[in-house]
Amino acid sequence: MGDSVVTLRPATGHDIPGFVALGRAVVPPTYGPIDAAYAQRMIDEWWTPEVFTRSMQTNTHLVAEADGEVVALANLGRLSRSYRAFPHVTDDREVMWKLYVHPDHQGRGIGGRLLAEIESLVEGDELWLEVVDGNDAAFAFYRAHGFEEVERVADDEWPDDVWMKKVLAR
Ligand SMILES: CC(C)(COP(=O)(O)OP(=O)(O)OC[C@H]1O[C@@H](n2cnc3c(N)ncnc32)[C@H](O)[C@@H]1OP(=O)(O)O)[C@@H](O)C(=O)NCCC(=O)NCCS
Repeated sequence: MGDSVVTLRPATGHDIPGFVALGRAVVPPTYGPIDAAYAQRMIDEWWTPEVFTRSMQTNTHLVAEADGEVVALANLGRLSRSYRAFPHVTDDREVMWKLYVHPDHQGRGIGGRLLAEIESLVEGDELWLEVVDGNDAAFAFYRAHGFEEVERVADDEWPDDVWMKKVLAR
């Protein structure tokens, strides 16, 4: 399994069950140590077929596949088209909302390949993303790929969001 060829391609609706399964595999080990209730909420509220169906209408999704299985996912969209509210933001942003690699496939370059592909789809010259405060491995990965922390958005109930930005060389 570890040696299989990994291909990237645009996602289709047929990938949604694979995305839901990916979330169940990657969300608990990523966010459980930070906040177990938050990890459960993510799976229940955000990694559902309904949310993916809606998200695929407004955002571009890329999938990494190995042996016919979804092993990673990345997506890109405009903040102005999100269903969430961002009172602290005045301009629009192109945002990579998700970059998730299955735990069995992490550390093999798939995240880097997906990120490069997402960067090539950005229309402006900046790519933004949010990292949950405490997700140190992801933060380090993004720092190593040229992202800088811009702001932290505090939340009373859940972990803070750290916004990062990369200025793309054109
Ligand atoms: C963070 C993540 C997207 C990186 O993708 P990846 O395919 O594992 O990373 P790559 O193989 O392209 O790059 C490896 C680099 O990432 C870092 N890294 C992060 N998590 C790692 C892991 N579990 N194993 C190995 N390296 C990891 C290493 O520092 C490594 O740096 P190096 O190239 O200098 O050795 C992926 O590990 C992941 O999905 N993590 C869990 C979910 C998550 O936090 N997503 C981001 C949400 S904002």
